[in-house]
Amino acid sequence: MKTDSFRGRDFLTLLDWSKEEVETVLDVALDLKRRYAIGERHDHILPAKTLFMIFYNQSLRTRNSFEAGMTQLGGHAHYLDPSKIYTPALPGKEVAYSTERVSDVARVLSRMGDAISIRCYGDPVDWVYGGAHEMIRNFAYWADIPVLNMECDKYHPFQALADILTVKEKLGTFKGVKFVMSWAYSPSVHKPRAVPQSAIIAAAMMGMEVVLAHPKGMELDDEVLDACRNYANRYGGSFEISHDMREAFQGAHVVYPKAWCATPIFKPPVGEDDHQKTQEIFDANKDWICDAEKMKLIDPEGIYMHCLPADRSYEVTDEVIDGPRSVVFDEAENRLHVQKAVMSLVMR
Ligand code: CP
Repeated sequence: MKTDSFRGRDFLTLLDWSKEEVETVLDVALDLKRRYAIGERHDHILPAKTLFMIFYNQSLRTRNSFEAGMTQLGGHAHYLDPSKIYTPALPGKEVAYSTERVSDVARVLSRMGDAISIRCYGDPVDWVYGGAHEMIRNFAYWADIPVLNMECDKYHPFQALADILTVKEKLGTFKGVKFVMSWAYSPSVHKPRAVPQSAIIAAAMMGMEVVLAHPKGMELDDEVLDACRNYANRYGGSFEISHDMREAFQGAHVVYPKAWCATPIFKPPVGEDDHQKTQEIFDANKDWICDAEKMKLIDPEGIYMHCLPADRSYEVTDEVIDGPRSVVFDEAENRLHVQKAVMSLVMR
């Protein structure tokens, strides 16, 4: 692989990058992490460079890890609230003197900075599944600088990189690792599918034994499931779907239980725009919680993961998330390291 093949690239989904490229990102992230830990400065890597960050949704980890990462690399991350600029919008969604066409925003920011990152899902695109991803792709089409996906309605690729880096650090291998991505109950029915979809893509790409567990009605995108099956065939792992949380947890090396929205919440043709039905599916599955009793089913060396924020007492008990198997804060820290790696590679 040519070492400068990353320069100028967008990072919208792991599906656009090869396994070799993703492994290189993990290597660079670990290298930066270790060297930073012994006091090495990295501010020579992206000196005076600017990352524009457009957040349509709230964030703790993503915003702060990108800001801290750009500071450490010698540049600056600039926060943009879409309601305080002219809200970037696609043709057909424009409102005079309130929005600005994505193609114009992308080309303006390309004249001033070095990358554009975007978070958008759910209400800002009126729960049209894929609408946010389409907008980010449109940014990428028009921008002359890299566009980075900070979570859309389909993918959260930086979270997935942090997830697999954490598995690599904790378990030392991907081979033979049973990775269980499980739905878990939350009082909120509004969490996007991006985290589970990107996590199973990453795990399957790394050749893990991937199990996706969820109640009926919580199905993920068929394209993502097909990609996971293809990666499993190609890279020597496996991919299965279970509708039983306990069965899925048996012998797992990684369990990653979190809520995501039910299919009926999306507008047709993907869903039914039916919030009542969505709520009923959630209410029928309150026993999908990660507790100490279920953790007894997993491998003795197995770990508990969550992207955070977690809904304590619903998705997971305090005993588990604060317990010895939990790696959630290492996982959160790894957001910083994988993002520094990708930005170092694409923004040079
Ligand atoms: N995991 C994650 O993306 O966290 P934030 O929503 O806080 O950015």
